[in-house]
Amino acid sequence: MSFEDKTIIITGGAKGIGAGCAEIFYRQNGNVVVLDLDEETGQAFCNDLGDRARFIKCDVSRKQQVKQAIGQVVSAFGGVDVLVNNAGILQYSKVTDTSEEDWDRILDVNVKGAFLCAKYAIPHMVAGGSGIVVNMSSVQAFVTQTNVAPYVTSKSALIGLTRSIAVDYAPEVRSVAICPGGVDTPLNRAAFQQSPNPSKVRQETIDLHLVERMAQPGDIGELVAFVASDKGSFINGQPIRIDGGMGIKIAGSKTD
Ligand SMILES: NC(=O)c1ccc[n+]([C@@H]2O[C@H](COP(=O)([O-])OP(=O)(O)OC[C@H]3O[C@@H](n4cnc5c(N)ncnc54)[C@H](O)[C@@H]3O)[C@@H](O)[C@H]2O)c1
Repeated sequence: MSFEDKTIIITGGAKGIGAGCAEIFYRQNGNVVVLDLDEETGQAFCNDLGDRARFIKCDVSRKQQVKQAIGQVVSAFGGVDVLVNNAGILQYSKVTDTSEEDWDRILDVNVKGAFLCAKYAIPHMVAGGSGIVVNMSSVQAFVTQTNVAPYVTSKSALIGLTRSIAVDYAPEVRSVAICPGGVDTPLNRAAFQQSPNPSKVRQETIDLHLVERMAQPGDIGELVAFVASDKGSFINGQPIRIDGGMGIKIAGSKTD
């Protein structure tokens, strides 16, 4: 796989899964642009990657910031070939204890952010004759733990957005949703810390996976790069689970 002369935008790429994706696209000679709120971490990460990596501070839920950031990418690199809508936030709550503000915040980042980035990137893909929008969903779009209602709603919505982009912009633009199980990232580590016994919850999370580990960000990045490459060119409009067997393990245990 080579992404030479290709430009890849990765939202939320300063750390975690997005950084794992950025490293792999960079290693395969792509021009990598990280859009993230976390300027300090994102700038340092891109400096470490090398001179084909750029950081742009951007809140993906804000239209003007997204529009401006994608304009900057096109001015610098001439187009957009791959958009990885990866920025996402998680909060533990059920419907009845989710405030309207929290609901809006989670849906704004996780769903509206993906919509806005796609809205401003797709015209450049169409103009360039090809492109792909990869939306970072979750295995939770299919099998759902308790107490994460707004997050699960947002991750399920991304699968619909993926289908819509695929049918509306074919054949030039493809779209694929990636649905990871547990990934060892700052998001998950922060979630474990919210429990009274973080190491127990971490182990319980590991135990949910048939492969007896969580994914590393690079595991997800390898799949994203494959799907975005010419080798993945027949994959379109679909969610792809990469969950270490978590989904079937949970589904199986419920029918025991
Ligand atoms: N970690 C997991 O187990 C897991 C599993 C399935 C899906 N996912 C999804 O993968 C994606 C990445 O998760 P992660 O675990 O790497 O998270 P993370 O918290 O480790 O990293 C997310 C990055 O997104 C950035 N970000 C947050 N809000 C933003 C905004 N409004 N605009 C721009 N950037 C913003 C953060 O600054 C951070 O750098 C998320 O969409 C998440 O829902 C994660």
